Amino acid sequence: MKGIVWDGNEAALRDDVEVRDLRAGEVRVRLAAAGLCHSDVSVLDGTIMFPTPAVLGHEGAGVVEAVADDVTSVKAGDHVVLTTLGNCGTCAACARGKPTFCRTSIGKLSRTFTVGGEKAFQFANTSVFVESTVVKATSAIPIPDDVPLTSACLIGCGVLTGVGAVFNRARVTHGESAVVIGVGGIGLNVIQGLALSDSLPIIAVDTNPAKEAVARQFGATHFITAGPDVDLVEAVKEISPFGVDWVFECVGSTQLIRTATDLLDFGGSVVMLGVPRMGTEASFVVNTMYNDKALMGCRYGSARPAHDIPLMIDLYRAGRLKLDELVTATYPIEAFDTALGELHEGKLARGVLTLDG
Ligand SMILES: NC(=O)c1ccc[n+]([C@@H]2O[C@H](COP(=O)([O-])OP(=O)(O)OC[C@H]3O[C@@H](n4cnc5c(N)ncnc54)[C@H](O)[C@@H]3O)[C@@H](O)[C@H]2O)c1
Ligand SMILES: [Zn+2]
Ligand SMILES: [Zn+2]
Repeated sequence: MKGIVWDGNEAALRDDVEVRDLRAGEVRVRLAAAGLCHSDVSVLDGTIMFPTPAVLGHEGAGVVEAVADDVTSVKAGDHVVLTTLGNCGTCAACARGKPTFCRTSIGKLSRTFTVGGEKAFQFANTSVFVESTVVKATSAIPIPDDVPLTSACLIGCGVLTGVGAVFNRARVTHGESAVVIGVGGIGLNVIQGLALSDSLPIIAVDTNPAKEAVARQFGATHFITAGPDVDLVEAVKEISPFGVDWVFECVGSTQLIRTATDLLDFGGSVVMLGVPRMGTEASFVVNTMYNDKALMGCRYGSARPAHDIPLMIDLYRAGRLKLDELVTATYPIEAFDTALGELHEGKLARGVLTLDG
């Protein structure tokens, strides 16, 4: 099979990837489409350390090819969105509706592939830049056949992370004000989650002025072009004089996390979505936080995939959630380098690799 394999030096297309046979509780999925998230890029630049060789990609959708004998949740032919949690579905965390806390998957690595005969790791419990992958049945959530898989795949990370951060973690309510720093695939989904929650104003911030149009398309009411000559605190206070109720950091910069705390109104909170290099410390001025302010971490939009993926599909089919508009461009898997280059150039909301050619 074809797949994008990270060997510690480069991510390259290989045609000698194989996936192992199914075990109990697993399903094999033929990928149709896979979004390129910044977390994949972070593996390549060392921000996210991952053992090698590894088959990359974690935001995918496809069609179930085969299921283990004990699997009843999906069957061959079902269209599915994959989730990166790999949660067990039965532990105390899963049972209380917190699958992102499921300890059966966190830090557990598996080598479900071989590349040129050598065992290779699965990335983020999924690996989707490949023709077929084997995942736990709990990671393959069925969706209706009429939703384009090139759009549906983005639910698997960007949509769940961004919209989920607003719905599940922050629980933003109508009239609350927000700043979203970083208008990539994650930030755009935070913006549309805020718009769905009647947040106002929704102030988008990006160093790339070309992101203004898409930020406004997804629901931003204001846009600030960040840069060395721009005082973000002053710029936000011109719009919202006492600061804002919510700041979502969607870049992964400790400097921006510090700035985010300076943007908060009394009672406001920062939600940290960006992923800096492992072990990185951030700082803030403690006394500025006394007026009931908070800093929140958030993994994967605090999502409950079996609940939230069908919800995202329903919102999309009702015309209230933008998925098709997130896809700036599609690329055959052979053009992975082009997709990566265009992400770096700031051209993409999301780039999607297609695998069914
Ligand atoms: N918490 C989670 O579960 C989770 C899930 C997925 C991704 N992430 C992380 O979220 C972050 C964003 O991912 P993405 O896929 O949206 O990335 P992306 O590359 O699509 O977008 C990043 C955006 O940030 C902008 N930017 C860069 N530096 C900036 C600055 N100093 N000020 C303002 N804007 C700036 C870029 O111009 C770009 O528009 C990454 O760190 C990624 O690893 C976290
Ligand atoms: Zn991701
Ligand atoms: Zn569990």
